[in-house]
Amino acid sequence: MTVAVRSFAKINLGLYIGSPRSDGYHHLRTIYQTIALHDLIRVGTARGAGIEIVCNDPRVPLDSSNTCYRIAERVIHELGAKRRITIEIDKHLPVQGGLGAASSNAIATMIALECALKTNLSPPARLRIAAEVGSDLPLFLIGGTTLGVGRGEEVYPLPDLPSLPLVVVTPEIGVSTPQAFTDWDSRSDGRIRPSVRAQLGTTPPCQLTPSSPSDRLVEVGCVLSAWLSGSPSTGAPAKGGSRAEKLLLDLVRTGIENDFEKVVFPIYPELRDIKGELERAGSRYASLSGSGSTLYGLFRSPVEAKKAVSRLRKQGLKAVATSTLTRQSYWKRILDC
Ligand code: C5P
Repeated sequence: MTVAVRSFAKINLGLYIGSPRSDGYHHLRTIYQTIALHDLIRVGTARGAGIEIVCNDPRVPLDSSNTCYRIAERVIHELGAKRRITIEIDKHLPVQGGLGAASSNAIATMIALECALKTNLSPPARLRIAAEVGSDLPLFLIGGTTLGVGRGEEVYPLPDLPSLPLVVVTPEIGVSTPQAFTDWDSRSDGRIRPSVRAQLGTTPPCQLTPSSPSDRLVEVGCVLSAWLSGSPSTGAPAKGGSRAEKLLLDLVRTGIENDFEKVVFPIYPELRDIKGELERAGSRYASLSGSGSTLYGLFRSPVEAKKAVSRLRKQGLKAVATSTLTRQSYWKRILDC
């Protein structure tokens, strides 16, 4: 039996890096947002044993270091299944691109494997296995707009952003996330910014109450809540399209930032230039996603996003217009293939 699952990408709407933890990871606070770009994962089961990975992109490892392999062996062990597993990765998303593709591929594998084996893991087992394989996996068990804390693996669903037009630019550069964290540590020279220490370092893992009103990610959460309740404080007009535009402008005003830009842009100045190009092409908010190298820009309308794509492609950039994906669309479309 073969099961196909769409493996959607994510972007980060702001990312704060906190102090290094005793386990070598860093405290993190971010808002993950799933988007409509995706890979396709096909999982087949047959008599026998072993895990085989097949992929159309030579940069993807086919051995036991692959996140799909690592999650499949854990799922099989947890379910006590004795089958041969074949995982085919139809790759369209960038490798080491900051769009969470390897993490998303692993979650798609888990979902497809459960379907193929006609058995379910418990939700806590899914979360535990996902977090064991990587910090960026659990978000794909929620989808839509999600708050990530801890080392990024502790996830909480946020009120969903509406579907927003987006342009994604994927430069031919692979950025190593562990290296970017190391660069962050050398940049701050062991001295963690006091504001970040106050917000992250002393926050117990399960406490979501902000410890400082200056936390801009919390401000973003407030903007989202106000938008959803139609609060007059946001001045949100009634009509769908213009409300989305108002929300976008409010998010931009909160000045959300991705800390990775501070260490990745000095090494790859061309990425800073691309962010500038997205802004010049009319983006309301442009940023690096995760540790990059992907950059994205949020636009007011699909028409504006398409115009920006033509302009960026003329400059030789690999750009594509897409949209953010709400939680409902994420789960509706994940198995619809
Ligand atoms: O969890 P994941 O396998 O994605 O992390 C890859 C590497 O990135 C870790 O080994 C660690 O070096 C770094 N990392 C970190 N702090 C985080 C997440 C990842 O230092 N919050």
